[in-house]
Amino acid sequence: MTPPAKSASPFDYVVFGGTGDLARRKLLPALYHRCCDGQIAEGSRIIGVSRRKLSSEAYRTMTREALRDFIPVAEYDQDAADRFVKMLSYVAVDVSGDSGWDKLKKMLPSDDGRTRAFYLAVGPGLFGEICGRLGRHGLATPATRVVIEKPLGRDLKSANEVNATVGAVFSEDQVFRIDHYLGKETVQNLMVLRFGNVLYEPLWNSSRIDHVQITVAETLGAESRGSYYDSSGALRDMVQNHMLQLLCLVAMEPPDSYDANAIRDEKLKVLNALRPIGEDDVETLTVRGQYRAGAANGGAVSGYLEDTSLEQSNTETFVAVKAEIANWRWAGVPFYLRTGKRLPARFSEIVIAFKQIPHSIFPKNAGAIHGNRLVIRVQPDEGVKQWIMIKDPGSGSMRLRHVPLDMSFAEEFQVRHPDAYERLLLDVIRGDQTLFMRRDEVEAAWRWIDPIRDAWETSGMAPKPYISGSWGPSAAIALIERDGRAWHGE
Ligand code: BG6
Repeated sequence: MTPPAKSASPFDYVVFGGTGDLARRKLLPALYHRCCDGQIAEGSRIIGVSRRKLSSEAYRTMTREALRDFIPVAEYDQDAADRFVKMLSYVAVDVSGDSGWDKLKKMLPSDDGRTRAFYLAVGPGLFGEICGRLGRHGLATPATRVVIEKPLGRDLKSANEVNATVGAVFSEDQVFRIDHYLGKETVQNLMVLRFGNVLYEPLWNSSRIDHVQITVAETLGAESRGSYYDSSGALRDMVQNHMLQLLCLVAMEPPDSYDANAIRDEKLKVLNALRPIGEDDVETLTVRGQYRAGAANGGAVSGYLEDTSLEQSNTETFVAVKAEIANWRWAGVPFYLRTGKRLPARFSEIVIAFKQIPHSIFPKNAGAIHGNRLVIRVQPDEGVKQWIMIKDPGSGSMRLRHVPLDMSFAEEFQVRHPDAYERLLLDVIRGDQTLFMRRDEVEAAWRWIDPIRDAWETSGMAPKPYISGSWGPSAAIALIERDGRAWHGE
């Protein structure tokens, strides 16, 4: 039996952007679940902050609605929701002016040792301003933490600026940079799979691994986030953060402990070892795409330009990259990454493709021998499949089959899979930065991404159109097939 997680001492969570989409969809439901699990000690407070004039009572009503809208019916409990909303209050604050700050300060207990977290669920343009005012209004106590979300800049230069403005008020151990992929169960499981078993580590290198694939496929399009998305694109939105974090966890050396800095030191080494991609090879190592009208989610859908009401756009909604890590463990092992919107299915998956056996003892008519594959399904249907060769049962002649040893976490553990935010929000309170990005990691990721974007610009490499509901431009298939390999499952 797994021991229950320790409940944190009473704390104060202040959510800037408290009436916004992220708060309603993710943050408040996540805190509700932790409250149901008994993880939020009595006496804790959750304070919603935004510019809107709203009473605390109206905020509680808005939160109840959000819980009903975004929590599956089976997980919603009226009594628990009543207990949860009692912790909530609200204050209107002008983040670019001086009104509301004193009121906010009065709402927070003056005890300097009590943990206080400010979650900035607002645009990154406001991070510096809010942090500056938290400092000037005496709200940044030594036990204060600040949580920021991507986009952390749009290139290395702007990321440095964001980090510097936040860093002017908070020390690095007070800053929690969320990458919600790190809060996903299976992503954490990747570390346990690698470092909690003796089985894989001896094989985890270029002598046994042929290549790695990381796919994050989405069926949705740009939806209502057109203006943000068009200034970002898939490379910045997904690869710079989520996908590179997954790559780091696959590729890093074993850290000496499950300690935040030990792990982040190892991830940083991977990012620094990524072979740069520039003008000379950007056309052979990367593919950009933009979806057109087609069929997805069971119906006809429009294209990116119609979705965003733009006449023209050079923003990619799909990207595939063949990356390489220039170190002893990984030299010569390609890491194929691909992510896109409006693809045929929604899933995130890491595939470790092992090399072929050196020599077959079996007769030719026994069938092909496939390389072993370890498939880590991040979402949905979280689980792990280890593909192996076996003998087809029966008394006839020898026949070989490629089958998965299949472990579905839902079937094995029969527990609800918590949303990534549920874990991350309370890690902030516990002061555990293991699943958060350190400043140097964010910067190293941009250092690899920026030259790719620059090369796209200088070489005029526009996104190739692809039909919604397809697997992206055919060039993405050619990217891997050129090497005599194929995307897993295709
Ligand atoms: C976000 C991106 O970080 O991750 C979105 O900005 C994307 O564009 C989302 O849709 C995907 O997250 P998940 O958890 O649904 O895979």
